[in-house]
Amino acid sequence: MASDIYQEAYQREKLLRKAAEQLLEDKSRELFASFEELQLAHQNMKENQKLMVQSEKMASLGVLSAGVAHEINNPVGFIYSNFCSMSEGLGNISKFILSMNKMISEASNIAMVRAKWTEQIQQYDIEYLMMDFPSLCEETIDGLERVKQIVADLKSFAREDSGAMDPVNVNECLRAAVNILSNQTKYHATVDVEYGDIPKTLGYFGKLNQVFTNLIANANQAVRENGHIEIATHFVSNWIEVSVKDNGHGIAQENLEQLFTPFFTTKPVGEGTGLGLSISHGFIKEHDGEIVVESTLGVGTTFTVRLPVKEIV
Ligand SMILES: Nc1ncnc2c1ncn2[C@@H]1O[C@H](COP(=O)(O)OP(=O)(O)O)[C@@H](O)[C@H]1O
Ligand SMILES: [Mg+2]
Repeated sequence: MASDIYQEAYQREKLLRKAAEQLLEDKSRELFASFEELQLAHQNMKENQKLMVQSEKMASLGVLSAGVAHEINNPVGFIYSNFCSMSEGLGNISKFILSMNKMISEASNIAMVRAKWTEQIQQYDIEYLMMDFPSLCEETIDGLERVKQIVADLKSFAREDSGAMDPVNVNECLRAAVNILSNQTKYHATVDVEYGDIPKTLGYFGKLNQVFTNLIANANQAVRENGHIEIATHFVSNWIEVSVKDNGHGIAQENLEQLFTPFFTTKPVGEGTGLGLSISHGFIKEHDGEIVVESTLGVGTTFTVRLPVKEIV
């Protein structure tokens, strides 16, 4: 009798234990599945974020490239025309030299050579060409340097950073951003830049360049005619500060809190993606820095990026 009770209790306990074990196994399996899901979601999010950064860059590049094309077109135009003039002039000079060469080797009378020399110098416009060539060359070299600079600045903008931080000259990085935007700002704004005496720091050149480009582009979009954009770099107790100040329309109080939220924009489609500041914020955080804003409606806005100086080892 007693053994029956024990037997029953034992069976019940066994069943319960089995059920508990099953439950535990089910739960662990569920937990593992949701962990995998979470990992996948995290991976997806990371990929989406990368795409977002890229798409913001491409959108800015779209706006930039129209101006850049214009900016390159101008020097290329005069370099082409200078080369045409120089090529024509060179034809004249070689005709003159060949003809004088022939004359000198054949003529016996020096007076005749002299007369021919004077005549041909006039005929081939040699004096004018000699005067014109140096300035044509100078202008051409100048134009080529401008094109070279534009291409270098574009490369800075498109630069993909490698995994590790490199020594960065923040002034140089800022200068590339100012330059690349100059064809957009020049029509309605004056841009003053004060490059302070700042040390190099470890960072990502491409990412910082993208931050500065976005801040200047925003300032430029905020100002109307007689716009004034003041940019400065300072070194303040081991921090590098980059400020971009504009006299544009300013930011309303209720918008200030949302500035760094992805996709927050007050601009019409095609002008803004709303990603610039959120991406910039992320990039500056990666540098252990901060980005702050001060704005008064109708007066203007100042964005300041602060980067701690990291020792280059
Ligand atoms: N210098 C500025 N002056 C006024 N408003 C600004 C300025 N910079 C940013 N903003 C505001 O912040 C919003 C978000 O900026 P951003 O993230 O760069 O996206 P986007 O420029 O594509 O709109 C802008 O739409 C604008 O309303
Ligand atoms: Mg922007």
